[in-house]
Amino acid sequence: MGLLSSAFLGLFAILVATLAPAVVHMIKIGGPFLTPNLTVLGASQGPIVIEDTIHCEDLHHYRPANLLFAACEDLKDTRFGWFPGLGHLDTKAAAGRGSIHVVDPKTFKSTHLELENFNGPFVTHGIDVIEDPQNPSAVYIFAVNHLPNPDFTSTSNTPDIPAARSQIELFHHILHSSTAQHVRSIRHPLIQTPNDIYAHSPNSLYVTNDHFYRSGFLRLVEDVWPSAKWSNIIHVQLHELENVADATSSLTASVAYSGLWNNNGLGHARSDVEIVITSAIGGELYLATRHENNTLSVHDTIVFNTVTDNPSYYVDPYASAKHDASGFVVAGVSQGFYLPQTGRDPDALEAVQVWYAKPGSGSGGEEAWEKRLLFEDDGKRIRSASAAVLVPVEPEDGMKKAWLFVTGFLSENMIAVQVEL
Ligand SMILES: *[C@@H]1O[C@H](CO)[C@@H](O)[C@H](O)[C@H]1NC(C)=O
Ligand SMILES: *[C@@H]1O[C@H](CO)[C@@H](O)[C@H](O)[C@H]1NC(C)=O
Ligand SMILES: *[C@@H]1O[C@H](CO)[C@@H](O)[C@H](O)[C@H]1NC(C)=O
Repeated sequence: MGLLSSAFLGLFAILVATLAPAVVHMIKIGGPFLTPNLTVLGASQGPIVIEDTIHCEDLHHYRPANLLFAACEDLKDTRFGWFPGLGHLDTKAAAGRGSIHVVDPKTFKSTHLELENFNGPFVTHGIDVIEDPQNPSAVYIFAVNHLPNPDFTSTSNTPDIPAARSQIELFHHILHSSTAQHVRSIRHPLIQTPNDIYAHSPNSLYVTNDHFYRSGFLRLVEDVWPSAKWSNIIHVQLHELENVADATSSLTASVAYSGLWNNNGLGHARSDVEIVITSAIGGELYLATRHENNTLSVHDTIVFNTVTDNPSYYVDPYASAKHDASGFVVAGVSQGFYLPQTGRDPDALEAVQVWYAKPGSGSGGEEAWEKRLLFEDDGKRIRSASAAVLVPVEPEDGMKKAWLFVTGFLSENMIAVQVEL
């Protein structure tokens, strides 16, 4: 063997050693060879199709009023051209007018809120809903809005001017009314590729930047390479809510956490200081603590073998010492490998899985969390899944049941299926 070819072999070995974990991970999480095992539902288990819920990406259960809040695109075709969350950056299509919907989990009816004092495009993504501390019958709703960048022109030769200039909208809503009032917009240079929001109060919120790169080859590297831990979570402090001059006024922002791969969804967890973060492509869920200085630190990880999108935490109102069904729920696409093609095709399907995890019998390792697949589909009952929540049903004969509401970033309707816990 010549010197040259052994050097080549050495380089090849380094390349394989670097890429192999990425390939193994992609096969596991991306599911190119997966055959979806469709969940069989009994006659009373649904699916119930919720009308008027087109492309509702994020979903929250506001427990004090037993209402679901969702951020929807409302039109079937706009998202295939413009949706920075999927790298779709055709600015000509960037005029979507999405909305916030409220779904009553008892009647399975969706109400589209009229947005007052708010004009212009609304390209929805993640939301959070928290109580108005001044009025228990009202909520504040934070919502990502992926606006096009007014400084961008597709013909200009300035690659450092991105196509999107995403911001966050804050609305105020009196529960059971049909409107939401726009309070202010929130924009800061640290908020670049916002995905999901965790609000601690009307003045303090966290936002994930799901990617460092908005497009191109390096975004692809970020999508497939587990060491591409380039995304971060930003904390925003709002000094004023009302009467601000513009979206950038009266606020400060700082990096709360960095070093996770593709941090995506954020959710409320078991206490006021615990936040749940997901790595979508990493297939992992992180439990983090929120500190007084607004930074976060991760204290536990739950590993799933699927894409984990927006997490939610289910509190079992019928918990007993013997059986507490409280746990984390995560929804995701099970064959994300094909998403770069299917995500641009109005007629394609994305298969889904919804997982549930509750504390297991062991104190560490695999036994620490007991994980169960709650629902699986090939995309025909629900196309794509990005968020899911459980709404409890009164137990019968000691059986714990709940309605599982599942929504997707490309689903034409949200669905509800009944599951046993
Ligand atoms: C499919 O799911 C059913 C019921 O959930 C299970 O019993 C069965 O083993 C699964 N099949 C495969 C091939 O995983
Ligand atoms: C939730 O899911 C979508 C779908 O992938 C993801 O892009 C978004 O990224 C997550 N966040 C929210 C809040 O929906
Ligand atoms: C913030 O507080 C945490 C917990 O007290 C501490 O570990 C961390 O170093 C602090 N970070 C900064 C930037 O002050």
